[in-house]
Amino acid sequence: MKAIAVLPGKPNSMHLREVPKPKVSDIPNGRGVLVKVLRVGVDGTDKEINAAEYGAAPQGYDYLITGHESFGIVEEVGPNVVELKPGDYVVATVRRPGHSIYDQIGTYDMTTDDMYYERGINLRHGFLAEYYVDDPEYIVKFPRGLKEVGVLLEPTTVVEKGIAQAYEIQRRLRVWRPRRAAVMGAGTIGLLATLALRLRGLEVVTLGRTPKPYLNSELIEALGARYESTADLPIVESAKKYGPFDIIFEATGASAVVFESMQALGKNGVLVLSSVTGGNKSIEIPADKINLEFVLGNKVTVGTVNANREYFEMGVKDLAHAEAEYRGWLRRLLTHPVKGLENYQELLNKLTTAKGAIKVFCEVAEL
Ligand code: BGC
Ligand code: ZN
Repeated sequence: MKAIAVLPGKPNSMHLREVPKPKVSDIPNGRGVLVKVLRVGVDGTDKEINAAEYGAAPQGYDYLITGHESFGIVEEVGPNVVELKPGDYVVATVRRPGHSIYDQIGTYDMTTDDMYYERGINLRHGFLAEYYVDDPEYIVKFPRGLKEVGVLLEPTTVVEKGIAQAYEIQRRLRVWRPRRAAVMGAGTIGLLATLALRLRGLEVVTLGRTPKPYLNSELIEALGARYESTADLPIVESAKKYGPFDIIFEATGASAVVFESMQALGKNGVLVLSSVTGGNKSIEIPADKINLEFVLGNKVTVGTVNANREYFEMGVKDLAHAEAEYRGWLRRLLTHPVKGLENYQELLNKLTTAKGAIKVFCEVAEL
């Protein structure tokens, strides 16, 4: 079968290759699920993998099949699979367990191991191929009626985990009634975070660099949230105007924004950090001031990466809720489709250069 792969460590090595088609029997104990891939989204992580800044091949291979935002249909199941059947639409989780206690209880996204396994990213092949096979433990059923937007589930889970962790942490307050939220960044994750917070009834202001109006600011306003460009209103000023913020979700990809966000956070507030920043940037910050306000205001900052099965299931519910509340909104994020694995160069070009792209994705097969 065809697959899109890279040679980790070698910049710009993305290519199409012929690889063996996986079989249900590749998974032990009759628990294999063979999935025909329909769509796969790409994001900044794929860009970094192609630039050889990130990612590793599975042991025994010199290539890594990329793609971690999957959507597919079950084609065949092993004799001991009861959870799924042929014809089910599905999305696979990304991380696979290592050895820490967190991995052993299904919370592999919280691993304390140094080595982590992520399909399409680190040490495990991904989904940009005609088929994949996995254990049903890592495959989540997706509603048929939402299939057009199924490829948005994996990015949604990043947001689900961050928000769920924030609510979990805030149980320290005995009563927490968050009212005002800020989202830093108006890319795919920022848009989905705005959506998830609006679905939870919060007042949201989303900050991006680009002056409005443009597609992303319109999408944010369509949710009843506010969009502000940091070109007009710096982060700390926005907190004076719209804050104090009970929760801030940071998704800009720029680490400096973290320290401005700390200054915009309200008393007892929680700041969620989700940007994977591979660079080497150093900045100067008002350290005493930030520290003092954190101490005197009982504030929290939490980092969040990846998502386990539980957050995929929450994501399914939120996408269904979103479709009921804001019909057609999710579809508007699917800005840049690319037909066929063989057009991987176009996929890459759109990912790196397309102006106004929200979600770039490969239509591997017809829905
Ligand atoms: C993926 C996550 C992953 C993270 C770090 C993100 O792009 O969506 O699943 O854990 O990169 O590798
Ligand atoms: Zn991703």
